[in-house]
Amino acid sequence: MGKLDNKTAVVTGGGTGIGLATAARLADEGAHVFITGRRKAELDKAVEAIGAARVAPVAGDVSDLADLDRLYDAVRARGRGLDVVFANAATASLVPLEQITEEDVAHIFDVNVRGTLFTVQKALPLLNDGASVILNASTAADNGAEAFGLYAASKAAVRTFARTWANELKGRGVRVNAISPGPVNTPGITNLFGGEEGEEGAAGAAREKLAGDTALGRMGRPEEIAAVVAFLASDESSFVLGANFYADGGENQI
Ligand SMILES: NC(=O)c1ccc[n+]([C@@H]2O[C@H](COP(=O)([O-])OP(=O)(O)OC[C@H]3O[C@@H](n4cnc5c(N)ncnc54)[C@H](OP(=O)(O)O)[C@@H]3O)[C@@H](O)[C@H]2O)c1
Repeated sequence: MGKLDNKTAVVTGGGTGIGLATAARLADEGAHVFITGRRKAELDKAVEAIGAARVAPVAGDVSDLADLDRLYDAVRARGRGLDVVFANAATASLVPLEQITEEDVAHIFDVNVRGTLFTVQKALPLLNDGASVILNASTAADNGAEAFGLYAASKAAVRTFARTWANELKGRGVRVNAISPGPVNTPGITNLFGGEEGEEGAAGAAREKLAGDTALGRMGRPEEIAAVVAFLASDESSFVLGANFYADGGENQI
């Protein structure tokens, strides 16, 4: 018996990192999981890892409303509604205030804010009673890290969406919550810090610094975030609404 037997889930950005680990965990808990992301090759690898019987890929961009429509058309075609949405896809860049361009603003907010909004709005007609929506925010929203202002602002917006939407959807029996991971070892982090150049390179040094920012002295594993999402996705969290769950190794807590 899994926590999510016979449930249907959507994980955006499900091809890599936290999204991939969460898609695998939700499938392990019994859910049938739709994953989306722009790179078909990453989605195909995820399907191979998780198993084609448990996960369905629908390639697309969350900032493109037509792509979101195709994703939800696939969910609708399965005919069982939708029980879990993990709005996880996001993009990040390190740009100090004086260098931010209009394009930077448009890109980060298109994907992280607009993309999250329409991922959830377009799911609404499919959501079953008792559905759970989980938004991926970040500790960056709270901690003022240099050059991370645009990303942090976008994640602050995501966190606040969880409050409003929890309020708006509670009457339908739909719960909305956010999670705020601290530093987690994913391809996204490696790319943010200039790619994989070995532990001596930029990404290696950044990982060391990020590990040192946590009270536990290490980065998180994607599976540790997936465990929190699985809890919020299931009825075990039935009294949790509009919350923001930190999974940050104590980074912003102690
Ligand atoms: N890792 C951390 O330390 C950390 C900390 C706090 C919060 N987070 C959040 O966790 C989430 C996952 O990040 P991650 O660290 O796991 O990084 P990741 O491995 O880069 O995962 C991000 C995923 O999102 C997808 N994606 C990006 N832009 C997209 C778009 N426009 N449309 C659809 N999919 C898109 C990417 O696939 P494609 O490129 O193929 O589209 C990728 O699979 C993000 O919301 C991130 O902000 C991460």
